[in-house]
Order: sequence, then C-alpha cells, then structure tokens
Amino acid sequence: MRVSRSELSQLIAVKLHQAGLSKEHADGVADVLVHADIRGIHSHGAMRVEYYAERIAKGGINTTPHFKYEVTGPSTAVFDGDNGVGHVAAKQAMDEAIQMAKASGIAAVGVRRIGHSGALSYFVRQAAKAGMIGISVCQSDPMVVPFGGSEPYYGTNPIAFAAPSHDDRLLTLDMATTVQAWGKILHARSRNESIPDSWAVDKEGHPTTDPFKVNALLPIAGPKGYGLMMMVDVLSGILLGLPFGNKVSSMYHDLTEYRNLGQFHLVINPAFFTDPVVFRQHISQTMDELNRIKPAPGFGQVLFPGQNNDLIQEEYEQNGIEIVDEIYEYLVSDTVHRNQYDHKDPFAK
Ligand code: NAI
Repeated sequence: MRVSRSELSQLIAVKLHQAGLSKEHADGVADVLVHADIRGIHSHGAMRVEYYAERIAKGGINTTPHFKYEVTGPSTAVFDGDNGVGHVAAKQAMDEAIQMAKASGIAAVGVRRIGHSGALSYFVRQAAKAGMIGISVCQSDPMVVPFGGSEPYYGTNPIAFAAPSHDDRLLTLDMATTVQAWGKILHARSRNESIPDSWAVDKEGHPTTDPFKVNALLPIAGPKGYGLMMMVDVLSGILLGLPFGNKVSSMYHDLTEYRNLGQFHLVINPAFFTDPVVFRQHISQTMDELNRIKPAPGFGQVLFPGQNNDLIQEEYEQNGIEIVDEIYEYLVSDTVHRNQYDHKDPFAK
C-alpha cells in the first residue's frame, strides 16, 4: 500500500515513543527510516521499527543517553553516543563534523557506543547538502566469511559517500560490502527459492544455492570486498577502542544488552582543495556524462550512483511511499512489539 511521507514519519515516531524513546529521539529515528523508505531502501526503513521497539522496550537501547562531543585535535573529534539510538547520535556527530570541516577543511569524527544507525546515505547526504563531501562507514554484526574462510568474522560493514553538484542533485554511493543482504536470504527461504552460489556459504564454507543451508554471507568481489570490510572495521571499531571483528555485538542475540557499535564520519570541504564552484560544476558534469554513456544491451540508461534511488524518491514523493501491508498494519495497531526478535541466533532474522 501507499502512504504519505508525513503519515509514515508520524506513525514510526509514535510507535518508537510508545516503546520508550523520547519524543525528540523518536522523531530523529523516524526521519532516518523514512529517508530509507522514500529512496527505496526498504531494508532499512519502517520494516525495522518493530525490532527497534522490542530492543528499546527490553532495555537494549539507552533511552536517556548523555551524548558527549569531544574535540581531540584541529580536525578530529569523538562523539560518544552513550548507547542511545544510533540514528540520532550519528546525525548529530555529522552536524558537528560539517561545522568542523567548514573551518578546518576536513573533519574526522568517530562515533562511539551507539545502537544501529540505519541507512548511511542519510548522514553523508547531510554533508553534501552543506556543500561538502561526506564519507561514513560503520560496523555491523558478524555474518560474513573472510575471503577463503568458512566462519563468519566481519559484518556487512557498509560504506557511504556523497558529494554536492551545481544543481540540486547529490552523488550518493551507499552500499553494504556483501554481495547480498541477509534479508535476501530470508526472502528466498520464505519462497522456497534457490539463491545464486555467489551470495553465501554453508557450514563448511562451500558456496550454496540452498538458502536454508546458509551459514554466512560472502563479501563483494572476493578478497577486495573482504579488504573493504577490514578497512571499515578498523576505522569504526579498532580506531575507536570498540569491540571489533567477530566480537561486534549481534543485532538479534540479546535485546537487553547495549550494542556498543562504532561509526566513522569523514567530511571534506572542497573549498580547501579547489574552487568549490568549479568542483560542483564538475560533479554535475560527471553525472550528465555518465547519463549520456551508451547503454549496454538490456539497459535503458547508465545512472550515476544514487540516481536509482533518486528516481524512486521522485515517484514516491508524488504517489506515496510503497509499504508492505503487514508493516502498515503493525504501525497503526496498538501493538508495540510481539517478542519475536530476541532469538539468540544471529541468523534468525
Ligand atoms: P544496494 O545494493 O541497493 O545499492 C548499492 C549502491 O548501488 C547504491 O549506492 C545504489 O545507488 C547503487 N546502485 C544500485 N543500482 C544502480 C544502478 N542501476 N545504477 C547506478 N547505481 C546503482 O544497497 P545495499 O548494499 O543493499 O545496502 C542497502 C542499505 O543498507 C544501505 O543504505 C546501507 O547503508 C545499509 N546498511 C546498513 C548497515 C548498518 O549496520 N547500519 C549494514 C549494512 C547495510
């Protein structure tokens, strides 16, 4: 079904407030989730509300966190989220990073001790809307084999990048470093369909086409994606003095525990490197040039990174956001959560 942006935002905020979040933080999370849904990133939109509500209700999110922002050098800072909702901490940390980069040209801000923060494009697009280049990476729970391994070590450790153009478009890359998300395996299970053998491995580390035999996901492009996951884990885990690798807390393991996750923002002010007007003009130019590349057979047009989401957003802004009926029914119901996510099994959901 279709729902307007404002209705979806309000429904999400009310549900999270009922679960125990302050009104301000519930609104903040809703904004990040609606950003995901309206850009077609449904894996990180309203679909997550019931899980968050259960974790909040069970104490696995600090509902009265004391955020602490500490400037540690001319271009560096650490933002401590006190295990509150990651969405709000990561947003505030990005606001600080933008201010720092305005003055010093570059800002590297570590975000420590937070809950899940959702779709990272939200944060890098904050920077791009302020005329900066934004980069953000974060840890996620271990469910991916390192190249050549048969046991999970890293998470789906996403990487996001955004840059402003001379018009109102933003160049946006926002990707997990796995071939496919865990949700795609669940989707195949629910339909009893096989999966391509490039997505995941079984308990022995053999590629599998049977979604029920999946024990871990595979990184994108073999050792290269594995290397990117490592980089994300160093920046958002080891660098910030947080649990790293397979010690990163699981999303579904124990909903009463804080997650202590890390995220890392880097903001670059183009004005400290080149003429910022020319920079933005050239970003626009590169977008246009990409769109004019002759498409390969089977493709209508080459899109610049993020343009696929821009097109969805344009359509959803006009006609309402497409939401799965079940999710809408939950949002409008009196239920806060149904005790269904505390599985003690990282691969259960
Ligand atoms: P995806 O595979 O849907 O898209 C990846 C990238 O490819 C995007 O930048 C997209 O714009 C681009 N793209 C897709 N089709 C394109 C086309 N036809 N032409 C040009 N570019 C195209 O994204 P993925 O990897 O499934 O990630 C989904 C979301 O999950 C992201 O928002 C990510 O931040 C989030 N995530 C969050 C985690 C967390 O712990 N907070 C963990 C893992 C992922």
